[in-house]
This record gives sequence, structure tokens and C-alpha cells, in this order.
Amino acid sequence: MTDSAHTALPPVRVGLLGLGTVGGGVINVLQRNADQIARRCGRRIEIIHAAARRLDAPRICSLDGILLTTDPMSVVENPAVDIVVEVMGGMNPAHALIERALSLGKPVVTANKALIAHEGNALFERAEAQGTLVAFEAAVAGGIPIIKSLREGLAANRIEWLAGIINGTGNFILTAMRDAGRSFADVLAEAQALGYAEADPAFDVEGIDAAHKLTIMAAIAFGMPLKFDGVYTEGLSALQTEDVRYARELGYQIKQLGIARRHPEGVELRVHPTLIPERRLLANVDGVKNAVLVWGDAVGPTLFYGAGAGAEPTASAVVADLVDVVRTLTADPTHRVPHLAVVPSEVSDLPVLPMSEVTTGYYLRLMVRDQPGVLANIARILADHGINIEAMIQKEASETSAHLPIVLLTHPLREAVMNRAILAIEALDSVQAPVVRIRVESLAG
Ligand code: NDP
Ligand code: HSE
Repeated sequence: MTDSAHTALPPVRVGLLGLGTVGGGVINVLQRNADQIARRCGRRIEIIHAAARRLDAPRICSLDGILLTTDPMSVVENPAVDIVVEVMGGMNPAHALIERALSLGKPVVTANKALIAHEGNALFERAEAQGTLVAFEAAVAGGIPIIKSLREGLAANRIEWLAGIINGTGNFILTAMRDAGRSFADVLAEAQALGYAEADPAFDVEGIDAAHKLTIMAAIAFGMPLKFDGVYTEGLSALQTEDVRYARELGYQIKQLGIARRHPEGVELRVHPTLIPERRLLANVDGVKNAVLVWGDAVGPTLFYGAGAGAEPTASAVVADLVDVVRTLTADPTHRVPHLAVVPSEVSDLPVLPMSEVTTGYYLRLMVRDQPGVLANIARILADHGINIEAMIQKEASETSAHLPIVLLTHPLREAVMNRAILAIEALDSVQAPVVRIRVESLAG
């Protein structure tokens, strides 16, 4: 197509809410690749109006030709704005701004996973009623096109399960702690300086951000409503370096995983530190990179890998959504790709299984007194609960402790049974409570 052909239609005019890491990246990518993007859309995309809290703050992008304001609602209300891009973050005022844009019939592109995970069901309903849409590729796994892959590329499949490293900050911290022995606080500060972390970094380290993303992926993979409240969430902050070291001795890496799995009786949704065999590709995803392993009945395992955070990787996803939205502007709303992959009337509620019903392997670290019979007592409790031990290592006691560590790996079993066995072990006089428990996934099918 020639340049004149893609300028035949008037440009699509975008209102941008937020000029931070992602907003700045969006402006840079749209400016640098303007011609390529216009060839793909059949018309140009121009940011005409943008909002931030501070108009005099230094920016990573040029703001030439963009009308600036501190009033984001004026961007939404601007009749010249065709599409609203929300990259401010937070629940409010982002929620009210997106609702207003939809009620004006304007499509919205957002990177705001917290908002989609909590309010997505109602927002999609409103968008559909208004004949418009909310696009949110950037809300999950940064630059990886995982939403499009789940919704379109894997549309032939019954998706059985997915497991992913879906928080860049958390993975960046884990990798630096493992490889460079750096402190948690020091690496987190670097992730913040690089623009990876959430406004409240507790969302990253406590698994909440990953739970938002898992909620979104599961809804699309299984055609169910978004159910953030059903996600079991355990953060990284309690993880101890000795467990990372013992896991490696046993041939495993510890990663913060989001796991969604379909069962006849419901779905499991969980985010927690997880031991993964070293030979799995996911175990070798390091730094700010994310990866999502999706198992479809026809395709088998597929792995999606890329940068999980940062200005331009995230902008890649936001701008891809913009291109999609521009392409749909002239399409009949009833023939668009549905928000949750199935047509709205086919979204079916699925119960979320309690964590006690989940089956998984376990890494246990017990601190025990160095005395005869301790190991026999522990083995008896495990045997009484029908628990199979896969591997065990016993370590020397340190000079400062009267207890020595015993590390066990179990075969998969129901969490409720493991909970009962741990209570019984912790009740032994010779065992220092609490027992450290980290779940283990083979990711083998
Ligand atoms: P930043 O904090 O870097 O940017 C937020 C921007 O929004 C800033 O420009 C800020 O203004 C502006 N803003 C915030 N509140 C208001 C308000 N009330 N009125 C006007 N402007 C406001 O955040 P990020 O760019 O990192 O993240 C934005 C969104 O993208 C979040 O939802 C985040 O979860 C998501 N996301 C972020 C990724 C990343 O790698 N950073 C990756 C994927 C998703 P000012 O600059 O003046 O303070
Ligand atoms: N804080 C998020 C992360 C940004 O580190 O993954 C990308 O969603």
C-alpha cells in the first residue's frame, strides 16, 4: 500500500490518560513506527490530547502537538477523541473515566489489570451494550500477545490448564537474589527505577498483580466470568534464600507461578512460589521476562515468552490493541472478537475449587532436633497420611542453631491431606514449627 492510500481515511484520534512509563512508551512507539502502523490500519493514529498529574514533569517522550491537561475527564469528553487509552493505573478515577468513555460509545484500550480483574465483567457488559469494546492486551504479561493467543490463536482448543511467570518485577527480584545474592530491598528499588513495579510494589511481591493477570487469563481460557476473589495468593516476601539453594540441589528452580487448571468439578486458580524442574523452559525464564505455558487438547503445550514489563514492551501490546480497535471501527459490533473469547451469552460460571482440594507436590523444610528417632516419627506421620516421599536431604546444623534442616519432596497429593500431616509433624517435640512448605509442579501434561 502506498502512503497516499493509507492517508485516504482521516486519522484516528486518540486521547491518552497517563504519561508515565507506559504512556511515554506508547507515544514513542506510535511516533517511531507511524508509517508501518498506518499501513497495517489503513489510516494514521494520532494522539491529540493527553492527561497527567504534573504538566512540568520530565517525560521519556516528545509531547509536541499534543494538547495537555491535568483533567483526564476532559480528554474522555473531548468530541474529537475517537479512542481512549487508559495507562494511569489504579481503580479511581480510572474506573469512572473508562465507564464514561464507554457510555459515549468510545472504545477503550487499557493496561490496567487491577481494574479489569475487579470490574471487567461489568465493563465488558457496558461496552457490549454500547456497541463498543475494551481492549486489554497489555494487562497480562507485558509485551507477550497472550490475550490474543488465548482468544484467537488457540480458539480451536479446549484449554486444560495454563501456568505462567506473569510478574516481571517478582521474577527480576528472584533472579537477582539467586544469581547475585542481592538483597530483596535493593533489587526491588532497581525494578522501581526501571519502571517495572506497580505504584504499590506490594502488588508485585505479594502476588496480587499476578493474581489479577491469572484472573484475566483464566476467564478467557475457560470462558468464565472474571473471579479475582477466588484466586489463592501467596507472595514472595517470605521466601528464604536457603530454600532457593536446597531446591537447586534437588534439581529445581523456584518461580512465582500463576496456575489455572480445569477440573470436572470446577477450576483451580492459584499464585504462589513453586518448585519447577530445572529442565523445563519455564524454570529458565529469568529477569523481567515472563512466560506462559498453555496446554490445549489439540495443540498440546505452547509457550509464550517475552518482556513482562517496561515502557516499550508494554507499549507494543497497547499499540497492537489500538491497531485492532482501529480495524474494528467499521466492523459490525456483533461480529467482533468477544471480550472473554466466547460470545457473551455463552460465558458460563465455573466454581473455583478451594485450595484444600488442589493436588500438587510439596517441598517441605523441617528444622529438627539432632536426636534418635526423629526421622522415624516424621516418616510414620507421612506414611499414616498416605504420603509418598520422592527425595530427601538432611543438612548439617549451623553453629547457631540446635536444629538441623531436613528437606523433603513429596509426590502429588491433596492439599487438605498435606495440611493435616504438617499439623501432626509440627506437634512433635523434636520439630521446630512452623514447617516451610513450597508447592512443586512438574508441568508435564
Ligand atoms: P506510571 O506511574 O509510570 O504512570 C502513571 C501516569 O498516570 C503518570 O503520567 C501520572 O501522572 C498519570 N496519572 C496518575 N493518576 C492521574 C490522575 N488522577 N490524573 C491525571 N493523570 C494521572 O505508571 P505505569 O505507566 O507504570 O503504569 C500505568 C498502568 O499500566 C498501570 O495500570 C500498570 O499496572 C500498567 N502496566 C504497567 C507496566 C509497566 O511495565 N510499568 C506493564 C503493564 C501494565 P504524573 O506522571 O504527572 O504523575
Ligand atoms: N508490575 C508489573 C510487573 C508490570 O512487574 O509485571 C507489568 O504488568
